[in-house]
Amino acid sequence: MIRLMLGLALALALIGCSQEDAAKKSAAPGDATAGKTVADRECKGCHGLDGKGTIPAIPTLAGQTERYLVASLAEYRDGKRSHAALRDISTRLSDADVRNVAAYYAGLAPVAGDAGAPVPSPYESGRKTAAQCASCHGEDGNSKTAGTPSVAGQQPGYFVTAIREYLTGARPTAPMHMLVRDMGRLDLENVALYFASQTPAQRSAPPAGDPAAGEPLTAVCGGCHGFRGVSEDTATPGLAGQDPQYLATVIQSYRATRKHEAMQRAVAALSDKDIANIAAFYAVQKSRPAENGQRLIEDLTGKCNRCHSPGVENPAMAIPKINGQDKNYLMMALRAYRDDRRESSVMHRMSLPYSDTVIDSIASFYANQPPK
Ligand code: HEC
Ligand code: HEC
Ligand code: HEC
Ligand code: HEC
Repeated sequence: MIRLMLGLALALALIGCSQEDAAKKSAAPGDATAGKTVADRECKGCHGLDGKGTIPAIPTLAGQTERYLVASLAEYRDGKRSHAALRDISTRLSDADVRNVAAYYAGLAPVAGDAGAPVPSPYESGRKTAAQCASCHGEDGNSKTAGTPSVAGQQPGYFVTAIREYLTGARPTAPMHMLVRDMGRLDLENVALYFASQTPAQRSAPPAGDPAAGEPLTAVCGGCHGFRGVSEDTATPGLAGQDPQYLATVIQSYRATRKHEAMQRAVAALSDKDIANIAAFYAVQKSRPAENGQRLIEDLTGKCNRCHSPGVENPAMAIPKINGQDKNYLMMALRAYRDDRRESSVMHRMSLPYSDTVIDSIASFYANQPPK
């Protein structure tokens, strides 16, 4: 035990040292005046001498932290970030040039982004589109028409797939594919998020089928559709609280028209009576929203601000300022982390689950913050 504690203390001391060394290295003072010459020669055409990108999607450097500027140039040089021009430039610059040019841009007054008016949240946009769906699916996605599915609380990944299948004709069922023909990708993700955020209503026992007899038959379904049909996976539909007639019809359709190998296998051996019982079982289960779209952006940026708020410093990592940054650049950077085109384990984890619509909103949020 004592040996373990000593080992731990030693390890902590070592970590402390290496961090101090790193801090000393990156804190070696740059000369902003010499840096201005470098900026004028090498960077002006794209980043401007005022540190504001000359066209959209070029990041603003003015007022960025010196430490982050040095660190990101090293990432281009070492191939951790890929960009041909930056790779070439950062390889050519001496260590002193890098420190100096970083000192120059870090010392400039921050400039505001030009993202324009704040965009409505994805939830609000989705709510507007959802009005077109209310006559059949219910205003809050709880369908009251037998045979029409509820979409309240539905997993957004599955929702988007379902609509794509109507659009491509892979699901030939009327009337959906007529309605969604004009819907763009962002509209679709927004409406999916809106419905995912609604609370599924609790249903009473349906006229046909026996929930108790259905339950044991669902043992094989739970691995994918979740315990009692409450799906935990964005691509797999929740079944709890679904309209029982829709459930029965759809399960039958996997034996005829609707294609999905795993589903076709899972329902191949069921009798019509089994199907009615399973549908009754899932229909009466209590479900919950798959997302909280109303609070999503607030919750998310709350997490991001733990690192990215002005004034936050962390000895273990060089954190960039993102307030007032160019919106197109922010979107590009977040997508690059998500899609593993830019290395950063922290940011990859943070940006992994987000759809383009969420990334768009986060980028707008930060682009609209005053740069500090
Ligand atoms: C040909 C145009 C061009 C030139 C010249 C250029 N840059 Fe860039 N710079 C960009 C673009 C575009 C990006 C974003 C690249 C990406 O997606 O990673 C960028 C990114 C950066 C970043 C990362 C910023 C961040 O927020 O992560 C730094 C730092 C940077 N440039 C510094 C410089 C410096 C210093 C010079 C001059 C020595 C320079 N650049 C010259 C276009 C340019
Ligand atoms: C005229 C009635 C009607 C309207 C309006 C309507 N739907 Fe539908 N929707 C249906 C029916 C019926 C189905 C089931 C079709 C099937 O069997 O595939 C369905 C299925 C769906 C599904 C697949 C559900 C699942 O569990 O697989 C989604 C998602 C969906 N609709 C979204 C929408 C959206 C979004 C709108 C508004 C833009 C909309 N619907 C408007 C009747 C309608
Ligand atoms: C291997 C995973 C898996 C298993 C096991 C499985 N499912 Fe599915 N199920 C899916 C996926 C994925 C989909 C969406 C497929 C699609 O897009 O058509 C789906 C779709 C469905 C749908 C259509 C939902 C809708 O809203 O349109 C129903 C109903 C369903 N499954 C019921 C069942 C039942 C009942 C069982 C057990 C007897 C079962 N599934 C077993 C993965 C599975
Ligand atoms: C634990 C601290 C931490 C948290 C939390 C965090 N970040 Fe970051 N972020 C970093 C670090 C460190 C970098 C620089 C990584 C690198 O060099 O690529 C970074 C880089 C970025 C960049 C690239 C900026 C540029 O100039 O290239 C963006 C955009 C960003 N973060 C946005 C976010 C958003 C949005 C969230 C919340 C969803 C978030 N971050 C949460 C630490 C964090």
